[in-house]
Amino acid sequence: MKTERIGAISLENKFTRVAIFASGAGSNAQKIIDYFGGNKEISIALIVCNKPNAGVLKIAEAKKIPVLLVDKEVFFRGDAYVGTLKEYGIQLIVLAGFLWKVPSVLISAYPNKIINIHPALLPKYGGKGMYGHYVHEAVIANGEKESGITIHYVNEHFDEGEPIFQATCPVMLDDTPDTLAERIHQLEHTHFAPVIASII
Ligand code: GRF
Repeated sequence: MKTERIGAISLENKFTRVAIFASGAGSNAQKIIDYFGGNKEISIALIVCNKPNAGVLKIAEAKKIPVLLVDKEVFFRGDAYVGTLKEYGIQLIVLAGFLWKVPSVLISAYPNKIINIHPALLPKYGGKGMYGHYVHEAVIANGEKESGITIHYVNEHFDEGEPIFQATCPVMLDDTPDTLAERIHQLEHTHFAPVIASII
Protein backbone atom coordinates (compact mmCIF):
# COMPACT_ATOMS: atom_id res chain seq x y z
CA MET A 1 0.00 0.00 0.00
CA LYS A 2 1.29 3.47 -0.85
CA THR A 3 1.46 6.16 1.79
CA GLU A 4 -1.57 8.42 1.67
CA ARG A 5 -2.47 11.53 3.63
CA ILE A 6 -6.05 12.65 4.09
CA GLY A 7 -6.87 16.02 5.69
CA ALA A 8 -4.82 19.02 6.71
CA ILE A 9 -2.25 19.44 9.49
CA SER A 10 -3.31 21.64 12.38
CA LEU A 11 -0.55 22.82 14.73
CA GLU A 12 -2.21 24.87 17.44
CA ASN A 13 0.36 25.34 20.18
CA LYS A 14 -1.83 24.95 23.21
CA PHE A 15 -2.61 21.30 22.53
CA THR A 16 -0.81 18.10 23.40
CA ARG A 17 -1.20 16.31 20.11
CA VAL A 18 -1.97 12.61 20.20
CA ALA A 19 -1.90 10.12 17.31
CA ILE A 20 -4.05 7.02 17.52
CA PHE A 21 -2.70 4.03 15.60
CA ALA A 22 -5.63 1.75 14.80
CA SER A 23 -6.43 -0.69 12.04
CA GLY A 24 -9.62 -2.36 13.18
CA ALA A 25 -13.20 -1.36 13.91
CA GLY A 26 -11.93 1.54 15.97
CA SER A 27 -14.35 1.35 18.90
CA ASN A 28 -11.57 2.35 21.30
CA ALA A 29 -10.48 5.14 18.99
CA GLN A 30 -14.07 6.38 18.93
CA LYS A 31 -14.27 6.44 22.74
CA ILE A 32 -10.96 8.28 23.02
CA ILE A 33 -11.96 10.84 20.39
CA ASP A 34 -15.30 11.43 22.14
CA TYR A 35 -13.65 11.69 25.55
CA PHE A 36 -11.22 14.40 24.41
CA GLY A 37 -13.68 16.19 22.14
CA GLY A 38 -13.79 19.83 23.28
CA ASN A 39 -10.77 19.34 25.56
CA LYS A 40 -8.70 22.54 25.58
CA GLU A 41 -5.34 20.85 26.16
CA ILE A 42 -5.41 17.51 24.37
CA SER A 43 -6.13 17.00 20.71
CA ILE A 44 -6.46 13.76 18.77
CA ALA A 45 -4.50 15.12 15.86
CA LEU A 46 -3.97 12.08 13.64
CA ILE A 47 -5.22 8.57 12.95
CA VAL A 48 -2.56 6.22 11.63
CA CYS A 49 -3.84 3.11 9.90
CA ASN A 50 -2.45 0.27 7.79
CA LYS A 51 -5.72 -0.97 6.30
CA PRO A 52 -7.45 1.10 3.63
CA ASN A 53 -10.90 -0.30 4.53
CA ALA A 54 -10.64 -0.23 8.34
CA GLY A 55 -13.72 0.95 10.25
CA VAL A 56 -11.63 3.52 12.09
CA LEU A 57 -11.28 5.50 8.86
CA LYS A 58 -15.01 6.26 8.81
CA ILE A 59 -14.73 7.52 12.37
CA ALA A 60 -11.81 9.77 11.42
CA GLU A 61 -13.76 11.12 8.47
CA ALA A 62 -16.84 11.84 10.59
CA LYS A 63 -14.73 13.62 13.21
CA LYS A 64 -12.60 15.40 10.59
CA ILE A 65 -9.37 14.00 11.96
CA PRO A 66 -6.50 13.69 9.47
CA VAL A 67 -5.46 10.18 8.48
CA LEU A 68 -2.09 8.75 7.57
CA LEU A 69 -2.30 5.45 5.69
CA VAL A 70 1.03 3.77 6.13
CA ASP A 71 3.09 1.62 3.83
CA LYS A 72 4.75 -1.51 5.23
CA GLU A 73 8.08 -0.87 3.54
CA VAL A 74 8.39 2.66 4.96
CA PHE A 75 7.16 1.53 8.37
CA PHE A 76 9.60 -1.34 8.78
CA ARG A 77 12.51 -0.41 6.54
CA GLY A 78 12.26 3.38 6.30
CA ASP A 79 11.98 5.95 9.08
CA ALA A 80 8.71 4.44 10.37
CA TYR A 81 7.09 7.81 9.61
CA VAL A 82 8.97 9.58 12.41
CA GLY A 83 9.45 12.64 10.19
CA THR A 84 5.78 12.70 9.25
CA LEU A 85 4.62 12.32 12.85
CA LYS A 86 6.87 15.22 13.88
CA GLU A 87 5.39 17.29 11.05
CA TYR A 88 1.96 16.70 12.59
CA GLY A 89 3.44 17.75 15.96
CA ILE A 90 2.63 14.38 17.53
CA GLN A 91 3.77 14.09 21.16
CA LEU A 92 2.05 10.88 22.27
CA ILE A 93 1.17 7.72 20.33
CA VAL A 94 -1.72 5.53 21.42
CA LEU A 95 -2.02 2.05 19.92
CA ALA A 96 -5.65 0.95 19.86
CA GLY A 97 -5.89 -2.19 17.79
CA PHE A 98 -2.75 -1.72 15.71
CA LEU A 99 -1.19 -5.12 15.09
CA TRP A 100 2.13 -4.30 13.47
CA LYS A 101 5.14 -4.41 15.77
CA VAL A 102 6.46 -0.92 16.50
CA PRO A 103 9.97 -0.60 15.04
CA SER A 104 12.81 0.56 17.30
CA VAL A 105 13.34 3.73 15.26
CA LEU A 106 9.85 4.86 16.30
CA ILE A 107 10.33 3.77 19.92
CA SER A 108 13.60 5.75 20.11
CA ALA A 109 11.89 8.83 18.68
CA TYR A 110 9.08 8.58 21.28
CA PRO A 111 10.65 7.20 24.49
CA ASN A 112 7.89 6.40 27.00
CA LYS A 113 5.47 8.19 24.71
CA ILE A 114 3.89 5.16 23.06
CA ILE A 115 1.19 3.23 24.89
CA ASN A 116 -0.84 0.17 24.00
CA ILE A 117 -3.94 -1.55 25.29
CA HIS A 118 -3.96 -5.34 25.50
CA PRO A 119 -7.11 -7.38 26.11
CA ALA A 120 -5.70 -9.58 28.90
CA LEU A 121 -3.81 -9.37 32.18
CA LEU A 122 -0.19 -9.18 31.04
CA PRO A 123 2.31 -10.77 31.41
CA LYS A 124 -0.10 -13.63 30.78
CA TYR A 125 -1.56 -14.02 27.28
CA GLY A 126 0.76 -11.59 25.56
CA GLY A 127 3.37 -11.83 22.85
CA LYS A 128 3.42 -12.53 19.15
CA GLY A 129 0.17 -13.98 17.83
CA MET A 130 -1.73 -13.16 21.04
CA TYR A 131 -4.32 -10.72 19.83
CA GLY A 132 -8.10 -10.52 19.41
CA HIS A 133 -9.97 -13.79 19.76
CA TYR A 134 -6.72 -15.81 20.17
CA VAL A 135 -6.30 -14.18 23.58
CA HIS A 136 -9.83 -14.96 24.74
CA GLU A 137 -9.70 -18.52 23.39
CA ALA A 138 -6.52 -19.18 25.36
CA VAL A 139 -7.91 -17.61 28.55
CA ILE A 140 -11.03 -19.81 28.35
CA ALA A 141 -9.11 -22.96 27.35
CA ASN A 142 -6.90 -22.55 30.44
CA GLY A 143 -9.91 -22.28 32.73
CA GLU A 144 -8.97 -18.82 34.00
CA LYS A 145 -11.46 -17.35 36.48
CA GLU A 146 -10.43 -13.79 35.70
CA SER A 147 -9.26 -11.77 32.73
CA GLY A 148 -9.00 -8.06 32.02
CA ILE A 149 -7.05 -5.34 30.29
CA THR A 150 -3.54 -4.00 30.50
CA ILE A 151 -2.48 -0.53 29.38
CA HIS A 152 1.30 -0.37 29.07
CA TYR A 153 4.22 1.49 27.56
CA VAL A 154 5.53 -0.02 24.35
CA ASN A 155 9.08 -1.29 24.00
CA GLU A 156 10.84 -3.44 21.38
CA HIS A 157 9.13 -6.63 22.55
CA PHE A 158 5.48 -7.42 21.96
CA ASP A 159 3.42 -6.67 25.09
CA GLU A 160 6.43 -6.41 27.42
CA GLY A 161 6.66 -2.68 28.17
CA GLU A 162 6.10 -1.31 31.65
CA PRO A 163 2.47 -1.66 32.75
CA ILE A 164 0.53 1.53 33.54
CA PHE A 165 -2.89 0.21 34.48
CA GLN A 166 -4.88 -3.03 34.76
CA ALA A 167 -8.57 -3.72 35.31
CA THR A 168 -10.12 -7.13 35.77
CA CYS A 169 -13.38 -8.88 34.99
CA PRO A 170 -14.64 -12.38 35.73
CA VAL A 171 -14.54 -15.19 33.19
CA MET A 172 -17.88 -17.00 33.36
CA LEU A 173 -18.22 -20.77 33.04
CA ASP A 174 -20.36 -20.40 29.92
CA ASP A 175 -18.24 -17.68 28.28
CA THR A 176 -17.33 -18.00 24.62
CA PRO A 177 -14.46 -15.96 23.16
CA ASP A 178 -17.13 -13.56 21.86
CA THR A 179 -18.92 -12.99 25.17
CA LEU A 180 -15.60 -12.53 26.96
CA ALA A 181 -14.41 -10.16 24.24
CA GLU A 182 -17.52 -8.08 24.76
CA ARG A 183 -16.90 -7.80 28.53
CA ILE A 184 -13.26 -6.87 27.88
CA HIS A 185 -14.28 -4.24 25.33
CA GLN A 186 -16.50 -2.61 27.95
CA LEU A 187 -13.53 -2.40 30.30
CA GLU A 188 -11.39 -0.89 27.54
CA HIS A 189 -14.02 1.69 26.68
CA THR A 190 -14.37 2.70 30.33
CA HIS A 191 -10.70 3.00 31.22
CA PHE A 192 -8.52 3.75 28.20
CA ALA A 193 -9.26 7.45 27.71
CA PRO A 194 -9.03 8.40 31.43
CA VAL A 195 -5.72 6.55 31.69
CA ILE A 196 -4.41 8.45 28.66
CA ALA A 197 -5.53 11.70 30.31
CA SER A 198 -3.74 10.71 33.52
CA ILE A 199 -0.37 10.21 31.85
CA ILE A 200 -0.42 13.41 29.78
C1 GRF B 1 -8.98 -4.05 21.45
O1 GRF B 1 -9.60 -5.15 22.02
C2 GRF B 1 -7.59 -3.89 22.00
O2 GRF B 1 -7.39 -4.50 23.22
C3 GRF B 1 -6.73 -4.56 20.98
O3 GRF B 1 -7.37 -4.38 19.76
C4 GRF B 1 -8.76 -4.24 19.96
C5 GRF B 1 -9.24 -3.07 19.15
O4 GRF B 1 -10.64 -3.00 19.08
N1 GRF B 1 -5.37 -4.08 21.06
P1 GRF B 1 -11.35 -1.75 18.44
O5 GRF B 1 -10.88 -1.66 17.00
O6 GRF B 1 -10.95 -0.55 19.22
O7 GRF B 1 -12.80 -2.03 18.53
